Amino acid sequence: MRIAFLDESKSGEPRVAVTPETATKLKALGASLVAEKGAGAGSAIPDAAYEAAGVTIAKNANEAVKEADVLLAVRRPKPELAAKMKSGALLLGIMDPHGNDEALKPFAEKGLSLFAMELMPRITRAQVMDVLSSQANLAGYRAVIDAAEVFGRAFPMMMTAAGTVPAAKVFVMGAGVAGLQAIATARRLGAIVTATDVRPAAKEQVASLGAKFIAVEDEEFRQAETAAGYAKPMSAEYQAKQAVLVAEHIAKQDIVITTALIPGRPAPRLVSQAMVESMRPGSVIVDLAVERGGNCEVSKADQIVEHGGVKIVAWSNTPGRIAPSASALYARNLFAFLETMIDKKEGRLAVNFDDELVKATLLTKDGALVHPIFAPKA
Ligand code: NAI
Repeated sequence: MRIAFLDESKSGEPRVAVTPETATKLKALGASLVAEKGAGAGSAIPDAAYEAAGVTIAKNANEAVKEADVLLAVRRPKPELAAKMKSGALLLGIMDPHGNDEALKPFAEKGLSLFAMELMPRITRAQVMDVLSSQANLAGYRAVIDAAEVFGRAFPMMMTAAGTVPAAKVFVMGAGVAGLQAIATARRLGAIVTATDVRPAAKEQVASLGAKFIAVEDEEFRQAETAAGYAKPMSAEYQAKQAVLVAEHIAKQDIVITTALIPGRPAPRLVSQAMVESMRPGSVIVDLAVERGGNCEVSKADQIVEHGGVKIVAWSNTPGRIAPSASALYARNLFAFLETMIDKKEGRLAVNFDDELVKATLLTKDGALVHPIFAPKA
């Protein structure tokens, strides 16, 4: 059982799918590991640290994958890599499958089984494999640090002999995993924090972190959570009411952190250009949803846009801005899932295709795209 992982920094991804810690654990299960040279450089892990954990270093990606039974990845590799891989191999990573059938087909046609880690069900057994949570948690923290860096004023209230510096006002939009961590981090820095969400369950969670909850709490709000715990797309009427409330509130904020997402859809537009223009010069918006189109109308991916004195920060890979920590957690998520596909007595792969976690994440098998998300829409 040979497991490979690559240097993804060449395609702009500083995280890495295996750390020396998880390499050691995989070896203990009977695997041999091979890394592309420099795989961990973006996450402060030198090749020597991998070698000390028993990992062989290959000179390039093609060499690393050619004999591999499993490729562990952060992002979906370029389609060209499929031809270099062994037929029947497994590939686990954040695959971004929605609308990307064409990029997935070469892997399917090569007979690979691809697993999209972001489709992992949010059930108790799979919490340790939940890459959305592990990465969003760090992104929520990092968003506040990014805001603090760009914000010209102080976060905490400071009482000095020369007078008082007021506490910054932070508004967090979307109180899921990232938003809740952003609230906690902003509170620790001494900000006055408010937050909003469309799911009623978020109200209590926001309050428990010491922030004030602000939302349009009508009948639609009471029904806004899906059985899976995610937000539904809201009606035009709800969005109009929400916009009025948000517009009034945002004008008084120093920092806005947006994290609102709806699975498989573009991010909801919550902050219009007019709202940005209503904010005081020196205010900051951090748009964590930019990879899915952004929550703020003015955001531009991977730029800090200045609009009327307001800075809008929109890094498309915020977990990558805290790569050593993000890789450590992501690698453990991958290990936990792969471990369930290994026969520990025999030290070989034994995937149970009837397992609910396998069914929920498996994109391709035996040459075809097999996941229900690829089914033609009715
Ligand atoms: P997400 O990343 O899909 O979305 C972020 C937040 O944006 C969500 O809270 C969502 O309700 C909110 N949002 C969507 N549209 C909005 C709008 N128009 N206005 C304001 N906010 C909007 O969500 P995430 O962070 O992945 O969490 C989703 C749910 O899953 C939460 O209930 C979370 O507590 C739950 N969860 C459960 C886990 C488990 O049981 N193992 C693990 C992690 C999360």
